[in-house]
Amino acid sequence: MTDADISMQSPREATPLRVLSGIQPTGRFHWGNYFGAIRQYIELQNVGSSFYFIADLHALTTVRDPALLRSLVRDAAIDLVALGLDPTKATLYVQSDVPEVTELMWLLLTVTPMGLLERCHAYKEKKSKGIPADAGLFSYPVLMAADILAYDATIVPVGEDQVQHIEVCRDLANTFNHLYGEVFTLPKARVLDGAAKVPGTDGFKMSKSYDNTLDLFENPTVLRKKIMRMTTDSRPVEQPKDPHSDHLYQLYSLVASEEKRDAMADTYRAGGFGYGQIKKAIADASDEFFAQARDRRQVLEADHGRIEEILSDGAVRARVQARAVLERARKACGLDRSVQP
Ligand code: TYM
Repeated sequence: MTDADISMQSPREATPLRVLSGIQPTGRFHWGNYFGAIRQYIELQNVGSSFYFIADLHALTTVRDPALLRSLVRDAAIDLVALGLDPTKATLYVQSDVPEVTELMWLLLTVTPMGLLERCHAYKEKKSKGIPADAGLFSYPVLMAADILAYDATIVPVGEDQVQHIEVCRDLANTFNHLYGEVFTLPKARVLDGAAKVPGTDGFKMSKSYDNTLDLFENPTVLRKKIMRMTTDSRPVEQPKDPHSDHLYQLYSLVASEEKRDAMADTYRAGGFGYGQIKKAIADASDEFFAQARDRRQVLEADHGRIEEILSDGAVRARVQARAVLERARKACGLDRSVQP
């Protein structure tokens, strides 16, 4: 992805570059979250204005324990700052602190075809497994559209699994704009090559729901054990292997320096090595890669007031933006009495 790709395709031409993304506090963050999304947040906080939020309303579709939700939201905020999100550059807030978004969601729901939501994968997946889905999960992509449109976002950094939702967001914005005039800015997904779909310990997409994650702030000994137990194939030690088709190599590439990564690729191609060797290398490289964030996390964890201050301040700034867009949308569809009937 180059700067040229960060183009604006908005009918609201004057809109400046605005980056926005959200992350659910449904468990501790893992490598998929970091390499697919959070790393982009940190990179993009230096370009234009940016808004990042903890999607607690979305998390309510799975986390039903209030104390757990509270602590996951706090942990999420600490993690993001420890990983390098700078609240003086980006606005960091909690989704439910901006009620304007839920009102906007209703306006969008009134232009959302049922069929569009029936095709969305989170709902489809649950239904295909026979798990009962609630209306919250069904309309989840509409809340996500409101999250994005409420801030006139132009770029949404995400992993591949969220691209469909951003397409839905664009569809809904187009429909609304077609009906009521140019109210919403059309966003674009930004997905990183090489980390669009980070594999889990079993080689499938890393995901909390597949229980195959490597968590960012896991105790290092526990993490090392998890890495050493990762699934591998049964090809003999002496057989040369293609590094790029192996999930161990893909994970190693994320945390190793370029030089070490290239050396490991050569080892794969030469053959004659055991998977234990690369697993150990992944654990060592990961210790080093996340060492600073781990230290920063410890400091933040101890400073109780600091995170709350960051989130409260973020909510104030976020609400100013969301209110302006909501007003625009309300006016456009006739929900204000300032114009004589
Ligand atoms: P969530 O919380 O599932 O994931 C947060 C971010 O992490 C990315 N991700 C991955 N990327 C690459 N490989 C993986 N294995 C992997 N696993 C997760 C996700 O793509 C995502 O970018 N619906 C969203 C949260 C949300 C949102 C929004 C995002 C709510 N409103 C508005 C963008 C804009 C979600 O559940 O992400």
